[in-house]
Amino acid sequence: MSEDTALIGAMPKAELHLHIEGTLEPELKFGLAARNGIRLRHRSPADIRASYAFTDLSSFLAAYYEGMSVLREEQDFYDLAMAYFRKANADHVVYAEVFFDPQAHTSRGVPFGTVIAGLDRARADAQAALGLRAQLIMCFLRDMPADSAMRTLEQSLPYRDKIVGVGLDSDERDNPPVKFADVFERARGEGYRLTVHCDVDQADAVGHIWQCLDDIGAERIDHGVNCVEDGALVARLARDGTGLTVCPISNRWVAGGLKAAELKAMLDASLRATVNSDDPAYFGGYVNDNLAAAQRSAGLTAAEVASLARNSFEIAWIGAAERDVYLAGLDAYLRRVPGSAPGS
Ligand code: ADE
Ligand code: ZN
Repeated sequence: MSEDTALIGAMPKAELHLHIEGTLEPELKFGLAARNGIRLRHRSPADIRASYAFTDLSSFLAAYYEGMSVLREEQDFYDLAMAYFRKANADHVVYAEVFFDPQAHTSRGVPFGTVIAGLDRARADAQAALGLRAQLIMCFLRDMPADSAMRTLEQSLPYRDKIVGVGLDSDERDNPPVKFADVFERARGEGYRLTVHCDVDQADAVGHIWQCLDDIGAERIDHGVNCVEDGALVARLARDGTGLTVCPISNRWVAGGLKAAELKAMLDASLRATVNSDDPAYFGGYVNDNLAAAQRSAGLTAAEVASLARNSFEIAWIGAAERDVYLAGLDAYLRRVPGSAPGS
């Protein structure tokens, strides 16, 4: 194990860009299909993995939505989330914000309450059994109409205390952030925190990031690596302290490269960039794999790797006291690892 891999492995970290439906490993998919009496078109987990050959966002999304068909009952959502929490715990994730896509389930006849009950029970058990704290972020599907997002927002209100914020995901083409300006305005009024996907190398990617800042008031951008193409945008993101949740291995599948040089440029510009796994069951790497891949590709120093973990706590949607505890834990860890202190 190299020194930097050793640094990453046990480094306390937060994961902030993780779609719970994107953690559905083929083995679990087969188990849930059997439990729910569903016939799959693949014969084995290996067959499923062999079928993954995404070349862009939409080819990934087709497999992602097909995978979800096995998620029917509360216990399915619980098992899915607990499997992720165990993996995250092994990667020394101490805090996670987990996306879920309610419309991808309600549109198949699975009630909103079933989804949230399973995910929230797993969240509570992960805290009790693993000491891993998590919160849920509800994403709207941007390739569905804005009034469907608004209805979903209304459906979520009875569960308001179980959801920390809202996001926007799915196919970005012809679905800019402004399409959902009213929905985000209402969500803000309900007390939700706001984040928006700006996927990599999409048409008008830079314009979409500007919309998030100027028209939506998003606190974070998910992905957002195209910001480095626009100096004024970088300056604005730095000034506002906007968090960016970058997902290198995901980028390799849907945008043809890890975008690690862009990640390094973001750190050089003092942006609050983080590294996350997005849809690890589909892209084949959990958060430590993503950190190691970015570190290797961009030649990040130990101090830069440490700053990614520091940023993950800085931009998390938590209170000051909890943040201080995580940062103190990170600092204590870094003091034991030579060369990882700031400026080294
Ligand atoms: N849904 C799940 N993963 C996504 C991603 N990376 N971009 C957009 N929508 C998604
Ligand atoms: Zn994502």
